[in-house]
Amino acid sequence: MRGAAERIKLLLCVALLVASSSVLWRPAAASLEQGAVLQELLAAKWITKPLPSWVASTDPCIANWEALDCDTAGNIITLNLTHVGLKGPIPAALGKLTSLTVLDMGNDKTCKTCGPWNGVTGDLAALGTLVNLETLVLTSNELSLDYFPNAIFKLTKLKNLRVDNTLIRGGFPSQLSTLTNLQFLYLGNNSFSGPLPGAPLSTLINLRELTIWGSLFYSVCPPELGKLVNLTYLNLNKCALYGGLPPEYGNLTQLERLILYKNNLTGPIPESWRSMVKLKDFEINNNYLYGKLPTWLLQIPSLAIIRGTNNYLYGPMLPVLNKTYTPGLRNISMECNYLNGDKPAVAANITANLEYNCFTGEASTDSSCFRPQNCAVFQLSTENGLKCPECPANQHLVNSTTCICFQDAAKTSQKLGVGAVVGVAVGGAVLVAVTILLLCLFLRRRKSRSSEGSKSHPDFFSTGKEGGSLRFNSINWEVPNGVQRFTIIELINATNGFDKAHEIGEGGFGKVFVGNFPDGRVLAIKRAAPVSANEEAGHHQFRNEVLLLSRLHHKNLVRLEGFCDEGGYQVLVYEFMKLGNLHSLLHESEQGKNAGKYIMLDWYKRLEIALHVAQGLDYLHSFADPPVIHRDVKPSNILLDENLVAKVADFGISRESPEVDTHVSTRPAGTAGYFDPQYFLRRQLTPASDVYSFGVVLLELITGRRAIDLTVTSDDSNLIEWTKNQRDRNPGSVVSIVDHKLEGTYPHEMYTKLVDLALICASFERNKRPSMKYVVSVLEPLLQTAERPPQNYALQPWPSTHATRKGSPNSSSHPSTMGASDESFRTGVEYTRIEMPTIILPR
Ligand SMILES: *[C@@H]1O[C@H](CO)[C@@H](O)[C@H](O)[C@H]1NC(C)=O
Ligand SMILES: *[C@@H]1O[C@H](CO)[C@@H](O)[C@H](O)[C@H]1NC(C)=O
Ligand SMILES: *[C@@H]1O[C@H](CO)[C@@H](O)[C@H](O)[C@H]1NC(C)=O
Ligand SMILES: *[C@@H]1O[C@H](CO)[C@@H](O)[C@H](O)[C@H]1NC(C)=O
Ligand SMILES: *[C@@H]1O[C@H](CO)[C@@H](O)[C@H](O)[C@H]1NC(C)=O
Ligand SMILES: *[C@@H]1O[C@H](CO)[C@@H](O)[C@H](O)[C@H]1NC(C)=O
Ligand SMILES: *[C@@H]1O[C@H](CO)[C@@H](O)[C@H](O)[C@H]1NC(C)=O
Ligand SMILES: *[C@@H]1O[C@H](CO)[C@@H](O)[C@H](O)[C@H]1NC(C)=O
Ligand SMILES: *[C@@H]1O[C@H](CO)[C@@H](O)[C@H](O)[C@H]1NC(C)=O
Repeated sequence: MRGAAERIKLLLCVALLVASSSVLWRPAAASLEQGAVLQELLAAKWITKPLPSWVASTDPCIANWEALDCDTAGNIITLNLTHVGLKGPIPAALGKLTSLTVLDMGNDKTCKTCGPWNGVTGDLAALGTLVNLETLVLTSNELSLDYFPNAIFKLTKLKNLRVDNTLIRGGFPSQLSTLTNLQFLYLGNNSFSGPLPGAPLSTLINLRELTIWGSLFYSVCPPELGKLVNLTYLNLNKCALYGGLPPEYGNLTQLERLILYKNNLTGPIPESWRSMVKLKDFEINNNYLYGKLPTWLLQIPSLAIIRGTNNYLYGPMLPVLNKTYTPGLRNISMECNYLNGDKPAVAANITANLEYNCFTGEASTDSSCFRPQNCAVFQLSTENGLKCPECPANQHLVNSTTCICFQDAAKTSQKLGVGAVVGVAVGGAVLVAVTILLLCLFLRRRKSRSSEGSKSHPDFFSTGKEGGSLRFNSINWEVPNGVQRFTIIELINATNGFDKAHEIGEGGFGKVFVGNFPDGRVLAIKRAAPVSANEEAGHHQFRNEVLLLSRLHHKNLVRLEGFCDEGGYQVLVYEFMKLGNLHSLLHESEQGKNAGKYIMLDWYKRLEIALHVAQGLDYLHSFADPPVIHRDVKPSNILLDENLVAKVADFGISRESPEVDTHVSTRPAGTAGYFDPQYFLRRQLTPASDVYSFGVVLLELITGRRAIDLTVTSDDSNLIEWTKNQRDRNPGSVVSIVDHKLEGTYPHEMYTKLVDLALICASFERNKRPSMKYVVSVLEPLLQTAERPPQNYALQPWPSTHATRKGSPNSSSHPSTMGASDESFRTGVEYTRIEMPTIILPR
């Protein structure tokens, strides 16, 4: 590599030394010694690729060994060991090459012809003495460390450090703050755990390029990075960052590439970012950014690429995207936002994806975007209505006309006493407690007022005498947007007096009825089992629950249509889901509900259902504010509408994240087979608990087996264990795992991925489980690239081949499968609700 000129230089140097001090062999001796060190690396089989030019006992600097460079004094200063098949821990000998300024042990992932892959392992201790290093590259070595290698912190001259894609876990290495000479710091695609600290990074004021993508930090975008004024490239994608975009980044005036996609970021694009005048590439897609898309952004002369899909950005765009308006623009993607006004015309040499917005004259379909608002509602609250100021922490807006904020349910429930909390947990979704006295009063009133109402339901309309006041418990409070307050009379009429023929389910939380309303709507009505408890706390809780539910809008959550809090009754009214629940679709036998008919769920539909459920849960975890933990994810809580779109039900029983009360463990309502085993260790529910349950549901979808199957041996009765056992028996194959009803007609590779995903979701350890957002990010592309098989998902008669299929013939006790249900299909142990004792933890 080294040119002849350099060799001549070296010879001149040697000659000079001879002339001046007659120390003839010193440089050669030094490089001979270093050559011997390199030979040791070969002998130790750390370097496995043959390097023919490395001839023992020759001078590496004079004999022109490959992969290295020397200075004029005969010291090796550069060692480029990319793709030389490095294997194992770095031998201590390497630490003797103290003159090294450049050491490259990386791999180039994109290069197919570069030679054998490097696989350095261990803690890199040998590097600790290489204090002259300015460049150290370890890219794409599978270090698999649980901590950042300490030796690196000693290398204070480093300017260029690349420890990316190296599978390092543990907290973010804040000690890097001592390496103040760093200009390039690449730490992407490791698995650091949060938070991402700003202060230590902000001391690295010479940084020009910083990439830390791909670690789940669950923290905010550190505003301190705004001090790194020489940054040209900042990449924090997929870091589980939440909160707003820091205005401080407006100080990053040299920034050319800002990559923040796939986080949890909210709020507007700050005005101060106007000063990022050198931006070329701006990627903020897949966040929760809310606010006007600033037109100045599009007009930054250098801006060539902007990716903003899947946010909540609104406002008009420029009339035209062409050189006049957007001088540098080449690619823009803004699908799935709420951009309005006229759709801009686009010059031919600009690639623009602007679908699924709210432009004039466009249908505001949600077809490809899964979003909480539709264009009409969104515009109402942002353009026509006045924009209310932010509510104080833990409060949310209930009336955007009057800008009334209301305290969150989470706060309130924590203030409730133990009794109330437990009562609520037992009463579940809402259903709160009614005092027996109030019930009696109401019943008397009913009885006296309407004789036609006294059907065959002595339990409901029990006999009594004259009643008291009519509307004693219906305190006037703001009905939240989008839900309806029903009167008890309306509900009674719709259900024929809560007639048994209208009953479609029953669970720990009360009964569910289907109601036919005079305007033609068919809705599911969930009524509390009367539980005696503190009336006021109960009502308060109910109100908060309604407020919470009314704010949750997602196409994969069963929608709350209304409620009734009249006369001591606490009733929730939901959209009615025609095709019943997933449990019955997967497991119901011929004798079951659908009048002897069934729907065959093919591989595609199962994948789609999994994605729908994941999206619903991701919304609860990531978008709902405050985040909501479902706590009881299982197939009987997954309902399907007439188009077989899956929606998660019963999230009302959910409690807000991040944790249940710290002193008192409320009784979580979970179901055996789906319930996070870690709960028993930690007494704490987190979104990861839902991920566990989701993993089991996904396995059920894949295998068609039940979460707990008591008809087989105990080793195989648990679906997770069974799946793992099958995997162990047939490594690399999922044929024995996937539901035989699919008769092999599924993409094997995809289903292998699904099995892996399900098992990792159902990991015993919480920290191994991915977030629902991650799950969505895996499932979504699978579905998008899948070829939909032709299939008519209609009810069909049972084919005779299924007659022998395992089912539980007596599992159904209700005449109809239709509709929202808590636990419509209790089948012995399988759906036994776990009632945990209330545990008072020591303070
Ligand atoms: C090492 O060599 C590879 C391949 O020639 C090159 O891509 C890489 O930039 C070199 N490393 C350094 C630090 O110069
Ligand atoms: C990131 O890491 C994952 C897991 O180690 C790997 O599959 C993926 O290829 C890496 N991506 C890049 C760009 O290095
Ligand atoms: C930023 O870079 C310029 C020139 O490259 C340099 O003069 C200046 O000192 C740097 N600023 C900081 C804070 O390092
Ligand atoms: C999304 O943000 C919330 C906090 O707002 C956090 O609890 C949740 O874990 C985040 N999820 C992901 C995947 O970043
Ligand atoms: C950085 O930004 C903040 C907020 O935008 C501003 O107050 C501050 O003065 C800026 N600092 C520098 C050094 O420009
Ligand atoms: C951009 O569009 C505007 C409005 O149609 C037009 O006046 C202008 O000439 C266009 N610029 C270029 C460079 O085509
Ligand atoms: C920009 O759009 C062109 C044309 O569709 C496409 O070929 C190119 O890959 C895009 N560039 C980027 C960076 O996405
Ligand atoms: C797009 O085409 C216009 C002429 O129609 C040209 O002036 C401009 O430079 C082109 N832009 C890019 C990014 O190629
Ligand atoms: C909000 O408050 C105003 C004024 O009291 C009232 O007219 C309006 O109906 C309320 N809106 C809702 C959705 O409750």
